[in-house]
Amino acid sequence: MWLPCGCTSKYVASSFARRILASHLHVSGRSRCNVAAFMPEAAGFEGVSGRAALRELSVSNSESFWAAVARHRLSWSIPFHTVQDCDLSRGKIKWFEGGKLNVSVNCLDRHVHTCPERVALIWERDERGSEMKYTYRELLEMTCRVGNLLRRHGVKRGDCVTIYMPTCPLAVASMLACARIGAAHNVVFAGFSADALAERIRDAQSSTVITVNQGVRGGKVIELKKTVDTAVESCPTVKQVFVAMRTDNPVTMTARDIAMEEEMLKEDVVCEPAVMNSEDVLFLLYTSGSTGKPKGLVHTQAGYLLYAALTHRYVFSYHDGDVFGCVADIGWITGHSYVVYGPLANGATTVLFESTPIYPDPGRYWDMVERLKINQFYGAPTAIRLLLKYGDQWVNKYDRSTLKTLGSVGEPINTEAWEWYHRVVGDGRCPVVDTWWQTETGGICIAPRPSDPDAEIVPGMAMRPFFGIKPVLIDTEGELLTSNNTSGALCMAQPWPGMARTIHNNHQRFIETYFQPYPGYFFTGDGAYRSEEGYYQITGRLDDVINVSGHRIGTAEIEDVVNQCPAVAESAVIGYTHSIKGQGVYAFVVLKKGIDVKEADLSRQLNGMVSEKIAKYASPDFIQFAQRLPKTRSGKIMRRVLRKVVESDLEGLGDLSTLDDPAAVQEIIQEQSVLS
Ligand code: PRX
Repeated sequence: MWLPCGCTSKYVASSFARRILASHLHVSGRSRCNVAAFMPEAAGFEGVSGRAALRELSVSNSESFWAAVARHRLSWSIPFHTVQDCDLSRGKIKWFEGGKLNVSVNCLDRHVHTCPERVALIWERDERGSEMKYTYRELLEMTCRVGNLLRRHGVKRGDCVTIYMPTCPLAVASMLACARIGAAHNVVFAGFSADALAERIRDAQSSTVITVNQGVRGGKVIELKKTVDTAVESCPTVKQVFVAMRTDNPVTMTARDIAMEEEMLKEDVVCEPAVMNSEDVLFLLYTSGSTGKPKGLVHTQAGYLLYAALTHRYVFSYHDGDVFGCVADIGWITGHSYVVYGPLANGATTVLFESTPIYPDPGRYWDMVERLKINQFYGAPTAIRLLLKYGDQWVNKYDRSTLKTLGSVGEPINTEAWEWYHRVVGDGRCPVVDTWWQTETGGICIAPRPSDPDAEIVPGMAMRPFFGIKPVLIDTEGELLTSNNTSGALCMAQPWPGMARTIHNNHQRFIETYFQPYPGYFFTGDGAYRSEEGYYQITGRLDDVINVSGHRIGTAEIEDVVNQCPAVAESAVIGYTHSIKGQGVYAFVVLKKGIDVKEADLSRQLNGMVSEKIAKYASPDFIQFAQRLPKTRSGKIMRRVLRKVVESDLEGLGDLSTLDDPAAVQEIIQEQSVLS
């Protein structure tokens, strides 16, 4: 039987947890401290004196901590018997084995049981002032209809459904419907091109795609169905495409296409949830690495949901009844964890933002905050940097008194943007939480206020590890850096429930990327600085991944496309500091001998190719045609040197002794000085 929240299961779970904890911690009988009031999940940790001690304990006794939290936060149909079975040296990560649950039941049914008319979703549509609200009851009904529809069309437990939709209620219902019937979802950001979509459909081996006729963003119509039509031409696995109607404009339907809303009406509003194992796949989400094709990171049921819910609650100080406004697109991990799963698992009202920060004007976010009475606002530094340039008046026009916490995600937030966000948007009274995490981590790992609401916050620093997270810094020799005031590769010394379990169809790549660089640790790919006080600051990627407007892209992916142009012999792409986007794309291109084309024409062609094969945001901001590229004697392009040249840091070129021909660097410098 499914156990809704607030029923006796909770009592059973927490008393069971208390027993377990008491035996682990030998603290039974001691007086209870205020920890339980702050974190009810930790009620069993009697005698733990304060939040700092609770955090310590969540790391030193992580099994007990996560067991208690999992029993309290999630509704299980069968309790787990093993808290964790992990071995970081082999990339083996398993949490809550033996446990059975359904994620959609946790996100919907248990809230419908206690508060059916609470608003689950507020859809802030592109057209300002036309928001639509959906209660938990309505969202459950919609999810059940989609679940039944998918089942009727042969989607089975273990299948993978690709969702190519803008941020909208039906996209959320589709994700939850997959979870309900035990299928995995693969949401592809609706800004990706047909080629990028096709690559992800093929890798995921989806036979079902869900899309809309057209998207609408920033007042422009986007032909999503047409993109799907093109993509599926090269996807032999696809048998059916469900097409929902976002606009009134009809689109050409083929024999493969199914009118989604029409068919949903024929379905029942009750859909029996599949009983899933904790470690069954919940979703794949493709992200870029430093080499090769995008990788489909795999997240599983219980651990992911638990981690998303707990971080949502404590990083943002979310409280029952708050309206949570994360403006990320559902196509990214931020949308998965903090638009959909975290807030819904906590019974929150979550905002689905379909528009852009400057449509129809630069007051859009703050108008929305006033209209929807948003309590926590979570966005990206790139948008903050853009908006601050338009001036304070666009913020001051609107009432932002409901705001309690401001969050930042996806890239470093520079001090100017942080201070503007804090002083102007938050009127100097809302804490700004700079949250560091990744697609791989499932949820926030480092953030200023995972626990103490009065803790000091330093601008531009992610600062403190979340409960159960043990970050370490490691130097280039592989030595653990134990002192403070030091920088190194950011690794995690302990597993946590939210971490990705594997790369779809490529566990070896998972091991090589994350666990082999520093054996025994999970390597994040980022560098970090740890201050004298022990606070963490992210210093940027240590690999060839760049971050453009908060969107992650591997430079190798862009080079692959550029190199496909028949005129191009080779190329090297790097990221450079960009005042709005954080990083811009800079491409060095070497043409084949004897090619005679106008550079401006070729630049346009290359930009078009990147937009078409990947997405617009990956298109180079700057293309420099070079005679040759600086290489090592073994033929490796020295991107480090190119980065310094672009930053005009010629003093910092560093050791050039491994260069095949140092004259190549001088040529690049000269070519650049002619251009600028
Ligand atoms: O380099 C880090 C940067 O974004 C990368 C992860 O990108 P993605 O998987 O797309 O997830 C983005 C949303 C969580 C990281 O490796 N990054 C993320 N948050 C921050 C950040 N860099 C600096 N500060 C942050 N707060």
